[in-house]
Amino acid sequence: MLKLENLSRHFGGIRAVDQLNLEVHAGEILGLIGPNGSGKSTTVNLITGVYAPTAGSLIFKGANIAGDSANQRIERGIARTFQNIRLFNNLPVWKNIWAAQVVRESGWQGLKQRWFASASEARGKTLDLLAFGDLSHKADLLAGNLAFGEQRRLELIRAVASGADLLLLDEPAAGMNAEEIDDLNQRIRQLKNAGKTILLIEHHMELVMDVCDRIAVLNFGQKIAEGTPSEVQDDPHVQAAYLGDDSTEPA
Ligand SMILES: Nc1ncnc2c1ncn2[C@@H]1O[C@H](COP(=O)(O)OP(=O)(O)O)[C@@H](O)[C@H]1O
Ligand SMILES: [Mg+2]
Repeated sequence: MLKLENLSRHFGGIRAVDQLNLEVHAGEILGLIGPNGSGKSTTVNLITGVYAPTAGSLIFKGANIAGDSANQRIERGIARTFQNIRLFNNLPVWKNIWAAQVVRESGWQGLKQRWFASASEARGKTLDLLAFGDLSHKADLLAGNLAFGEQRRLELIRAVASGADLLLLDEPAAGMNAEEIDDLNQRIRQLKNAGKTILLIEHHMELVMDVCDRIAVLNFGQKIAEGTPSEVQDDPHVQAAYLGDDSTEPA
């Protein structure tokens, strides 16, 4: 579904992403892990069009999307959540969802045109997703007034509302307690069962190992391992990247 070929993004002398080859297959949950600063968020930003690549290409459903704007990529079916939650805090919960639905149906221009459409009709479109996110009872609250875990749920269903078939989740478990992570685990599985393809960037290893079909590991912008959760867990390169490796230094 998505193929990154020799993808690089440098910031001055920093090779945030360095000749990355990565494939996300339709219908899978692919984990992308790596220590802090290893290039995970930059990879998401390259896929979503926040950054242009320094080199390399991005193929989505067979088309090269490297020249597409961020909005064009959303319209093609790529949606994301942010490491730091970004919602329309001053809009009701339901309207956050509705906005994503309208962009999917009629683009950003359509959203502007329909902004003042009948609220009851607009709100009605969001009921199923509100229920899916267990947010029906919070529909009319301002998004900024939701509890933290609820805001994360809203971000997730907003990504679903955009109609995307590829969801990029950037550290969705960050700041969550064990119960919330359990709930997130179930939701990610439900999305997969509903046919979504998921790229999960996450620090929380229990979640990643439990929910992912495959995992790719980054270190200093490069892919150092890829495989099933147990293959990756047993890989000495991965252990060295996380624990720090002194074994290559002269005694
Ligand atoms: N906009 C930017 N300008 C300069 N350096 C950046 C920028 N974004 C990321 N970096 C650097 O690129 C590297 C990878 O960052 P990032 O992709 O955020 O890592 P991760 O998400 O894996 O923690 C880090 O060294 C970071 O400081
Ligand atoms: Mg990050």
